[in-house]
Amino acid sequence: MYNKEQIQLLQKRSLDFLSQTAETVPLAAIPDLRDVLRFHEYRYYVLNEPLLSDYEYDRLYQLLQRTEQANPGSVTSDSPTQRVGSSLNQNFVTVQHLVPMLSLDNSYNAEDLTDFDRKARELSGLDSIEYCIEPKFDGASISLIYENDQLVRAATRGDGVEGEDITTNIKQIRSIPLSAAFSKYGIRQVEIRGEIIMSKQSFAKYNELLASQNLPPLANPRNAASGSLRMKDPREVAERNLDAFLYHISYFVRDTNWHNADSHDPLASHSGSLKLLWDLGFRSPEKEKRVVKGIQPVIDYCLDFEAGRDNLPYEIDGMVVKADDTVVQEKLGMTSHHPRWAIAFKFKARQATTRLRAIEFQVGRTGAVTPVAKLDPVYLGGVTVSSISVHNEEYIREKDLKIGDAVLIERAGDVIPQIVKSLPELRDGSEEIILFPKNCPVCKSELYKEETEAVWRCINIECEAQVVEKMIHFVSKDAMDIKSFGEANVRKFYELGLLQDIPGIYQLDYEQIGKLEGFGKKSLDNLKTAIEASKKQPLHRLIYALGIRFVGETTAKTLANSVENLFDFTGKTEEDLLQLEDVGVKVARSIFQFFQNEQNIDMLHQLEELGLQMNNEKKAAVVAGALTGQTFLFTGTLSKLKRSEAEALAEAQGGVIVSGVSAKLNYLVVGEDAGSKLEKAKKIHTVKILTEDEFLQLIAN
Ligand code: IVH
Repeated sequence: MYNKEQIQLLQKRSLDFLSQTAETVPLAAIPDLRDVLRFHEYRYYVLNEPLLSDYEYDRLYQLLQRTEQANPGSVTSDSPTQRVGSSLNQNFVTVQHLVPMLSLDNSYNAEDLTDFDRKARELSGLDSIEYCIEPKFDGASISLIYENDQLVRAATRGDGVEGEDITTNIKQIRSIPLSAAFSKYGIRQVEIRGEIIMSKQSFAKYNELLASQNLPPLANPRNAASGSLRMKDPREVAERNLDAFLYHISYFVRDTNWHNADSHDPLASHSGSLKLLWDLGFRSPEKEKRVVKGIQPVIDYCLDFEAGRDNLPYEIDGMVVKADDTVVQEKLGMTSHHPRWAIAFKFKARQATTRLRAIEFQVGRTGAVTPVAKLDPVYLGGVTVSSISVHNEEYIREKDLKIGDAVLIERAGDVIPQIVKSLPELRDGSEEIILFPKNCPVCKSELYKEETEAVWRCINIECEAQVVEKMIHFVSKDAMDIKSFGEANVRKFYELGLLQDIPGIYQLDYEQIGKLEGFGKKSLDNLKTAIEASKKQPLHRLIYALGIRFVGETTAKTLANSVENLFDFTGKTEEDLLQLEDVGVKVARSIFQFFQNEQNIDMLHQLEELGLQMNNEKKAAVVAGALTGQTFLFTGTLSKLKRSEAEALAEAQGGVIVSGVSAKLNYLVVGEDAGSKLEKAKKIHTVKILTEDEFLQLIAN
């Protein structure tokens, strides 16, 4: 796409522009500035090899935005500033594809492929055929039309003949160029097919986001991608961090007098079109493809790829084998359903069907009652699955689940298994509706549900299930980190009446415990030492360990940093709490209520008497570090430091770690594959965006 000279020139121009302001950029330089930004979009989104820090890219983007604002007549529809859709999609207009979007025939093993090859050779009259093999991307298919080098339309597949116009949403995907120099190849109009996908990493992050909002996760990256295409708000599409692979030129109109200087026509083969797309700045499977002669190397390549599928950053569900030469393709032709010149090789499924036998209702630490589906055990992508969380009542309704149903389950990559759907066609009438309990399955007290929530809760704070779960959380690694205690011991001691509540952890009867099986002197000593050591844990760990609803590790740190002593919270109002970084109405209310509850305060007094650390030691001896009071947030994968190490470095100099991007954030430190936080921060001009190196520099200074 760019040769070395062009890269150096564009990089030099970037630095020139970085030293300018909107006032000093001449009108004539605006197209140059756009080229510079397109170049960096390509480096970042297609190649994954940025040449600027995000902060610098952001400054260039703002420079273009401001220069265009000052010269509204100069804005072109393919300017990088035109991706961001401001208005909502009203409806999606039905549009006709230039050529029908056919499907693919499937094969599942070497024999099927050999069969395919034999038929293709018979039909074409060739002794041996050249094939191009590439991944079969597991996403949602789209068609793109470029006319006179501009992206003019993007559509969903629909029924293959007609789809829906989703141009505004597709423009949010930065690996899809808004313009591309097809005219260099004499191409006036072209229809391209491809797949919108979500990387495994973006998928995991997106589900984390859903979980933090108490929403059920999406089943797999494919659903996440296809659900994005028809979203009303294009900005939400942008936040999902989608990607696109373009793999087929399905139609083109070319100047009749066009001739390539070296007389080689890239469109004469499939591999040639992939290269052409790549050269024009598209993410095509140019690096993943392989061209071979005969079917045996095809089989080998497919099996190799299957063995390595877990190492790919995105999901694929097979390979696609295509006759490479377009003349051969034409000879082989197509059925009404699929081309005869191509076939999909499907990998072994990570989906399975099994039967839903029962629903168990589990009570968590906050009293939330979670339904868990008990299944006939089934082997799925390396593990045997016999129970899967089905989240809440609404989720059960959405998936139309009944006891006795056959269900389709799936495990995408390393993700926990999910129920994709029930199979109502297979019902015989014996299936039973799932009834949500009205009372807590453990303490039998009445359950409640807030209007705005999907979750039913047991609000009896003495409920056995909650008491036990709270203690398990208290001793856990991220909380008080009482090593060698663990879930099993909490349960065992509780059942034996040796432990009733959190203060009880510090009042264990070691004599009794010593009599239990498996508690020799050594393990008893270890347990004692770990419990004793935990008394010195910093205040933020204690706050997190208390398990206050909506208070995660980061909020716990913010809270700890805001007081000198834990009991200071008893005097704080909801308004006071709202002033804190990242504390919204819901969180403030929950904290306020916790510290107004007498039983809770009583427990805290007991813990204080037992010797736990209630003071914010850091605040007591304020080290006026260089970064005192500056807020930091880390996102993406850091390469030199662990996230926790980086946070500790910032904190050591007085920095405060926060959990979300807002106008109160001072520094966003960005690692690899940063997602929505980065996008959000780019829109807030006061947030300074740093690379990991820049952060280290800041700390060193
Ligand atoms: S070629 C006429 N290539 O798989 C050409 N399709 O099961 C037909 N798909 O509808 C498509 N990766 O959405 C082709 N490398 C790839 C693909 C691919 C994924 C999808 C595509 C198609 C479906 C068929």
